Amino acid sequence: MKNFTLLSLVAVSMLLTACGEKTEKAVEESSAVVKEAVKEDTLSALDEAKKALSEAAEATKVLAAEVVEDAKIEAAKMAVVAEEKTAELKASAQESITEAGEALKEQAETVTAAASEAIASISAPAAYEKCKGCHGADGKTVALGKSAVIAGQDKAALITSLHEYREGMKNVAGMGGLMKAQVVSMSDEDFESIAEYLSAIK
Ligand code: HEC
Repeated sequence: MKNFTLLSLVAVSMLLTACGEKTEKAVEESSAVVKEAVKEDTLSALDEAKKALSEAAEATKVLAAEVVEDAKIEAAKMAVVAEEKTAELKASAQESITEAGEALKEQAETVTAAASEAIASISAPAAYEKCKGCHGADGKTVALGKSAVIAGQDKAALITSLHEYREGMKNVAGMGGLMKAQVVSMSDEDFESIAEYLSAIK
C-alpha cells in the first residue's frame, strides 16, 4: 500500500515535471511528501524492530528462568536419589555387619561346645565311658529322647538314681529295665565317680 502510494507520488511528480518550468514548485512539494513518507516508513520499521527485539529479549528471559527452574528441580531430584542410595548402602552395610557378627557368634558357640565336650571326655571317669552313647560325653543329651538331663544334677540324687536302677526300683519313662542293664554290674565306687563327674558339670 505504501509502495503504491510512493509510486503514485513519483508518477505524479514525473508528470508534473513533464509539464515544464511552471510545475517546478509542485515537484518540490511532491518530493517533500515522498521524503516524509520514506521517513515515516523507516521510523515505523525501526519501531517494529525495537518491539520485536524487546519481545525476543523478554522471551529469552522467560526461557532462561524456565531452564534455571528445571535445573533446580533436577538437582533436587538427584539429591533425593543420592540420599536414598546412601541410606540403602548404610542399611546393607549394617546388615552385613550384623550377619558377620551372627556368624562369629555361631562359630564361637561351636568352639565353646567342642571345647566343653573335649574337657568333659578328658575328665570323665572310665566308668562313664559306656554312658556317653546315650547321655552324651557331657551328660547333656536327653537319652533316647526320654531321660532327664543328667549333667549338673545333685551328686547325692544321682547316686540314689543309679542305686535304684541297679536294684530295679526306678522306672521314670518306661526304660528302667534298660538302665538296670547299664548299671547292674557297677560298684558303689563307680557310682560315686560318675556322680562326682556329672554333678560338677555346669
Ligand atoms: C542305651 C541308652 C542308655 C545308656 C547307654 C545309659 N542310659 Fe541312662 N538313661 C537312659 C534312659 C532311656 C533313661 C530313662 C529311664 C527311665 O525310664 O527311667 C535313663 C536314665 C538315667 C538316669 C536318671 C535320670 C533322671 O534324673 O531321671 C541316670 C542318672 C542315668 N540314666 C545315668 C546313666 C549312666 C551313669 C549310664 C552309664 C553307666 C547310663 N545312664 C547309660 C538311657 C541310657
